Amino acid sequence: QPTTPLTGKKVLVTAGGTRERIDPVRFITNDSSGKMGYAIARELQQRGAQVTLISAPTKLDVPAGVKLVQVLSTEDLAEAVTSAFPSADILVMAAAVADFKPLVSADQKIKKTADNDELVLKLTKTTDILKTVAKLKQPQQITVGFAAETQHLIDNATKKLTNKQLDLLVANDVSKPGVGFNGDTNQVTILQADHAPIKTALANKATIAKQVVDQISQRIQKEG
Ligand code: PMT
Repeated sequence: QPTTPLTGKKVLVTAGGTRERIDPVRFITNDSSGKMGYAIARELQQRGAQVTLISAPTKLDVPAGVKLVQVLSTEDLAEAVTSAFPSADILVMAAAVADFKPLVSADQKIKKTADNDELVLKLTKTTDILKTVAKLKQPQQITVGFAAETQHLIDNATKKLTNKQLDLLVANDVSKPGVGFNGDTNQVTILQADHAPIKTALANKATIAKQVVDQISQRIQKEG
């Protein structure tokens, strides 16, 4: 394998949609298939990085040479990321993380009864993993977030770049056909505080992954 700026770099990639338990047989999740995160993990591995994929449940095969850590809930993911982050060079958060979880997860299956026509499910905020990571971040570490938006893509994504103190923010407008969740294609705008936005064409997720990893690689070259 040729040497690249990513050779030997320790990278954490998260993927998939987290699951928040309602009761033993039900959970809240989202449409993430994991394809975007897995494509990024594969691309980084092919460029010589030492990749750990922290994944919520998906139907995908783990890319060759990539270490898999399986998680279910946002709190599991938060624990896996924050414990591995101090010894990582790069973190890429492609996982679709629940912002809210049930306040209580019932021990037994919730039953419907004759006098219950409505059920109120109370939700509470989950841990913001990237905000937690921002507090642990050392200057040489690179953090990459995603933003899944349905409106005001660049405004909302720029706020996430700043608030979560990220080096790179990959913004996708998931209201557009072929973009974001589930499918094999994506179209993104890569934001960086010190760089003009880079808008990609609609392309398969492997191609998008290459473009994201190119930017990570260029940052390493600039800073190294
Ligand atoms: O998996 P696929 O089907 O291929 O779909 C790809 C994708 C749409 C899931 C992916 O491209 C994507 O946009 N991932 C991020 C989805 C998301 O959670 O976006 P967000 O805008 O809600 O969150 C912003 C960032 O904060 C994300 O990097 C997220 O991982 C992170 N986050 C969110 C919530 C939380 N509690 N902690 C976090 O760290």
